[in-house]
Formats: sequence, C-alpha cells, structure tokens
Amino acid sequence: MSGYLHDLFSLHGRTALVTGGSSGIGYAIAEALGRAGANIVLAARRPRPLDDAVHALEEHGVHAAAIPTDLADRTAVDHLCHKATGFFGDIDILVNDAANNIRRPMAELTDDDYTQTIAVNLTAPYLLGQHFGPRMAARGHGRIINIGSQQSIRAFGDSGAYGVAKAGLTGLTRSQAEAWARHGVTSNTVIPGFVLTPLTETAQAVPGRTEALAARHMIGRNGLPADYAGIAVFLAGPGAAFLTGQTICVDGGFSAH
Ligand SMILES: NC(=O)c1ccc[n+]([C@@H]2O[C@H](COP(=O)([O-])OP(=O)(O)OC[C@H]3O[C@@H](n4cnc5c(N)ncnc54)[C@H](OP(=O)(O)O)[C@@H]3O)[C@@H](O)[C@H]2O)c1
Repeated sequence: MSGYLHDLFSLHGRTALVTGGSSGIGYAIAEALGRAGANIVLAARRPRPLDDAVHALEEHGVHAAAIPTDLADRTAVDHLCHKATGFFGDIDILVNDAANNIRRPMAELTDDDYTQTIAVNLTAPYLLGQHFGPRMAARGHGRIINIGSQQSIRAFGDSGAYGVAKAGLTGLTRSQAEAWARHGVTSNTVIPGFVLTPLTETAQAVPGRTEALAARHMIGRNGLPADYAGIAVFLAGPGAAFLTGQTICVDGGFSAH
C-alpha cells in the first residue's frame, strides 16, 4: 500500500471485535478489516463456524481469535467485554453485526420473540458500546460500526420487533456519536440491501422472491457479503475521522426509490 493509501485506509496496529463475524456480512467485514491490517476477535454462538472463520482469516495472514458468545445473555456479553482484550489488546473497532431475524406477522409475535430480538439486535450493541466506547474515548481513537437494515428507515417484509430493534440501532449510533465524537470515536450505521446469506435463506426459498428483490435494487442484483468490505475498511480507517452519527445505505440503490 502506498504511503497515501496507507494514511487513509490502513488498519495496522488496530484490533477489531466483530460480532456475527462467523458468517455472511460479518465474516466479510472481519476479513476486510483483517486484510487492511487489523487483528480480529470474532463473537457468535456456534464454536464450529467460529473456528472455520478464524482459520479462513489466518489463511489471509490475519491474526484472529474467537469467543463463543450468546449475545442474548447479558452475563455472556459481560464475559465477552472482559475477554475480548485478552488476545491482541484494546479494542479499537467495534462492529455490531450479529442479529436474529424473527419475522412473523406482527400479530403473531410472542413476548419471547420481542425480548430475544431486542436483546440480541439492540441491547447487546448498546452494552458493548457502553463498555468499549468510553475506553476508546479515553485512548482518543475508536470506531463503532452498527449494522442496521432497511427496517432502520422503513417498514418492509413483516418488520415487527426486528424493525423496532433496527430503528433503535440508528438512534444508538447517534447517541454514541454525540457522546464520544470529540474524543476521536466515531459511530455509524450501515444499512444493507437484500444480501444472500444464511439469514435470508427463508426468503430466498420463496419462489420468485430473490428475483423480485434483485429487481428492486437499482443495480439489478441482490447484495453479496463482499459488498460490505469497502465500506467497513473506510469507516474503520483514518480517512473517515470526520464521518459520524450517520446512516449509510450500502444497498445497490434499494432505498433510493
Ligand atoms: N442478509 C441481509 O439481507 C441483511 C439485510 C439487512 C440487514 N442485515 C443485517 O446484517 C447483519 C448480518 O446478517 P447476515 O445476513 O450476514 O447473517 P448471517 O450470515 O446469518 O450471520 C449472522 C451472524 O450472527 C450470529 N448470531 C446470531 N444470533 C446470535 C446471538 N444470539 N449471539 C451471538 N451471535 C449471534 C451468527 O452466528 P451464530 O448463529 O453461531 O450465533 C452469525 O455469525 C445482521 O445485523 C442483519 O440484521 C442483513
């Protein structure tokens, strides 16, 4: 990397914690941050996909570790906060990517659906931010990247409790930006389009749905995890120091019409 690009985009010496980094968009972001120079700590529930992701990162020359964690469990989140710095030191970049996707019609949602959705998709990002944000601010540098959804800004496809959590995440982003921007910590939300990952397999299985959604993207196709590499490296790096509190749609134009 030339000196100019290095100064804008290099993540050498940084460490990122990526929740949901064992799959889909989260893995693509972890790989991108790692290949740009960051050490990577992954968190998700299942150990096997986490191990596979660590090995895949190591094959790219990335220093990586994983902490199996159920983000619905506050004790486990607390444990993650304290264990995450044990591999490569302080966390400089927090990516809140993990989410569940309980999308029953609103009237069929149970109290448990709501509680689980808010716990994983909103409370865990809040708690991780509350732990790592002040520590980043004390060091004078940090990046928080929250992964939202079209439901952060619109009702779409039985939004339900998922939409409540994803809209809340944009508010959390602004609160974090307000709290810590003066101390070098930025927080932004990235909004994907319809991305072909395990999370959307149920929707992909509905005949014609994948094609119909592809047509709703101005670019004419659905998203792929690799579409989130560039925005993650940019937001995490030095070149994005003046960008905070924003909701950025990386959705092939889905939200633009
Ligand atoms: N795919 C899309 O079209 C789309 C669109 C808009 C927004 N998004 C958002 O993008 C993000 C990533 O989605 P994706 O499509 O890449 O999904 P994915 O491939 O299914 O990955 C989800 C990740 O989250 C982890 N996870 C789920 N529940 C968890 C829990 N309770 N505790 C800890 N980790 C948990 C999963 O691992 P375990 O199952 O092992 O825990 C996995 O690593 C999510 O925030 C999602 O809402 C996706």
